[in-house]
Amino acid sequence: MPERTPIIAGNWKMHRDHLEAIQLVQKLAYHLSEEDYEGQEVVVCPPFVALRSIQTLIQSDKLPLGLGAQNCHAEDEGAFTGEISAPMLARLDVAYVLCGHSERRALFGETDEVVNAKVRAVQRHGMRPILCVGETLEQREAGEATQVVVDQLRGSLEGVTIGEATQLVVAYEPVWAIGTGRNATPDDAQEMCAAIRGEIAEQYGQGTADGLRVQYGGSVKPGNIRELMGQPDVDGALVGGASLSSEDFALIVSHRRG
Ligand code: PGA
Repeated sequence: MPERTPIIAGNWKMHRDHLEAIQLVQKLAYHLSEEDYEGQEVVVCPPFVALRSIQTLIQSDKLPLGLGAQNCHAEDEGAFTGEISAPMLARLDVAYVLCGHSERRALFGETDEVVNAKVRAVQRHGMRPILCVGETLEQREAGEATQVVVDQLRGSLEGVTIGEATQLVVAYEPVWAIGTGRNATPDDAQEMCAAIRGEIAEQYGQGTADGLRVQYGGSVKPGNIRELMGQPDVDGALVGGASLSSEDFALIVSHRRG
C-alpha cells in the first residue's frame, strides 16, 4: 500500500489581516521544531490579502510550511468583480486550495457543479484541491450521511481524470461539527473517511484510493487530534478555530511528541 503523508491544514476563514497573519505564522514557527514537520505536511490557509505576505515569510525564513487558499473562481480571468482566479494563486506559490467548504456551499450557494469547476481550475494550474464534503445534522439523523457525501464526491469530481485524482486531498467535515466544539467521534470520522476512500476506489481504482489523503475537520483541538489521527483512514486534519492560536495549532501539528 502506498505511504500516505499526513497533511494538517489550518483554515483561518475570515480572520487576521496581513500583519496579524505574519505574527501568527512567526509564532507558529517558533513553537515547532524540525521533527514536528518531518513526515507530514503542514499548511496554512490565510485570507487572500495575506497570501503575499505569508509567501514572502515562508520563502525568506525557509519555513517548511505549505501555503493554501480558501477559495478561488473557476474561470482563469474575466469580468468577475471581486473574484480571485486560480492562476493568480499559483503565481503566489499557493499549493492547495480549499474547494467546496461547507460555509461556501451554505452561505454562498456553491453547488457540486460550481465546486467541480473550481476543482478543475485548481488542477489546471498545478495546485491541489482540498475538496471538502460533509453532511448536515439533519442528514445524519435521517441516516443519509454516507449517501450525501458520496453524492458530493461524485458531483465535485465529474471529469477529473485518474492522474488528477492522485493529486487530490478530501476533507470530511460534518457540518454539525464545524465551529461547534462538537467533534465527530474517532469511530464516526474513521467510518466516513473509509467510505470516502471506498468511493474513490469505485471511481478511480484501488491504487488511487490507497494513495488518497483524507482529512477530518470539525472542532479539531489539541485534546482530540491524537485519537483522530490514530484512525487508519484519517490522514490529516483541517483545523478552523484552533488554527488561529499559534499554541494550539502547534500542539495539533506536534501531536506525535511523547
Ligand atoms: P473548526 O472548523 O475547526 O473551527 O470546527 C473547521 C473548518 O471549518 O474547516
